[in-house]
Amino acid sequence: MPQLSIVVPTFNEHGNVRVLRDRVAAALGDIAWEMIFVDDDSPDGTSALVQAMAQEDPRVRCIQRIGRRGLSSACIEGVLSSSAPLVAVIDADLQHDETILPQMFGLLADPALDVVVGSRYSSGGGIGDWDASRAKASRFATRLSGMVLKAELKDPMSGFFMIRREAFEACAHAGLSGVGFKILLDLFATSPTPLRYREVPYQFGLRVAGESKLDSNVAWEFVIMLIDRYLRGVIPTRFIAFTLVGLVGLVVHLAVLALIFKGVGSSFLMAQSVATAAAITCNYVLNNLLTYRDMRLRGWQLLRGWVSFTLACSIGALANVGIAAYLYQTEGFWIGSAIAGVLVAAVWNYAVTAVYTWRPKAA
Ligand code: GDD
Ligand code: MN
Repeated sequence: MPQLSIVVPTFNEHGNVRVLRDRVAAALGDIAWEMIFVDDDSPDGTSALVQAMAQEDPRVRCIQRIGRRGLSSACIEGVLSSSAPLVAVIDADLQHDETILPQMFGLLADPALDVVVGSRYSSGGGIGDWDASRAKASRFATRLSGMVLKAELKDPMSGFFMIRREAFEACAHAGLSGVGFKILLDLFATSPTPLRYREVPYQFGLRVAGESKLDSNVAWEFVIMLIDRYLRGVIPTRFIAFTLVGLVGLVVHLAVLALIFKGVGSSFLMAQSVATAAAITCNYVLNNLLTYRDMRLRGWQLLRGWVSFTLACSIGALANVGIAAYLYQTEGFWIGSAIAGVLVAAVWNYAVTAVYTWRPKAA
């Protein structure tokens, strides 16, 4: 029976998973473990390789998710599928130092601890050979995380930790965000009782095989996750993303308006019309790339989506003007009326396009 479950999120880690299994096995000695890979149907065939490993070693198994992406959600599903009282989460790419696992395991023998965090920012730890800009971005994100973090954790952005399963489950029941890359921050921000933690320093290693999945989308999801935790999950994360995109659209609208009205010297009606069309199209493209990344429309679907999005937003605009005008007539408070109009249109646009533009697939 496993005393420790190791959860490993993978996407295109074909060159790493076998080495990781061997190194973890060597590090853990006589601790009974199981290893759960959660793979998002990697094109490089990681799932098939892990399944082959599972045929050789019953302690290994693979959760293969199809049509899904996400480091945090992969970890959550992996941990919930486990059975051991303690669970560790570790990257597949050998950048996390597996030799500290026994130390983490030993520390959790103390019932007064819920989680032990592998920390790059405790003394003795380090970020390895990151370039200055990545190091700066990491420190900035760590500072931002203070918005939702209720602990003095030195490395809340760590993806390497060991936690008591029951503490994890309590967080899951309280409603983890599950968005993006930062599952540890999510846990600390969500836990119904403050997590009792210790940090163990380690040196962040080099990635040898495969490549990092850290891209601008990860930064975007990080912001969504922070807002979601800040609002304590009362607003759906997709709506948060939709609203942020809407704000970008507002900026685009004003920029195009200024360009055409002031720059080109067209009539205001003409400039406002072009600006509206530009903003709607920009919002559509951004929502398709970011908000609905997992159900992204492509090819001809892209055109159909654009038509339905534009139609929905046009009706939304009519509702906006109608409601704002009505409220202004009856209440006489112009800012409040305008905001109410915008809010109703935002909710309308979101709800209608969620159903007609990015049609949820039947399960
Ligand atoms: N299932 C799944 N789905 N796994 C993923 C996905 C995904 O969409 N994206 C990334 N992974 C896996 C990778 O295969 C790897 O095992 C791990 O998550 C980390 O991804 P990297 O692309 O290597 O990220 P990183 O090195 O920039 O950052 C990692 O290390 C940081 C420092 O500890 C992440 O784990 C961060 O959370 C962590 O803070
Ligand atoms: Mn990595």
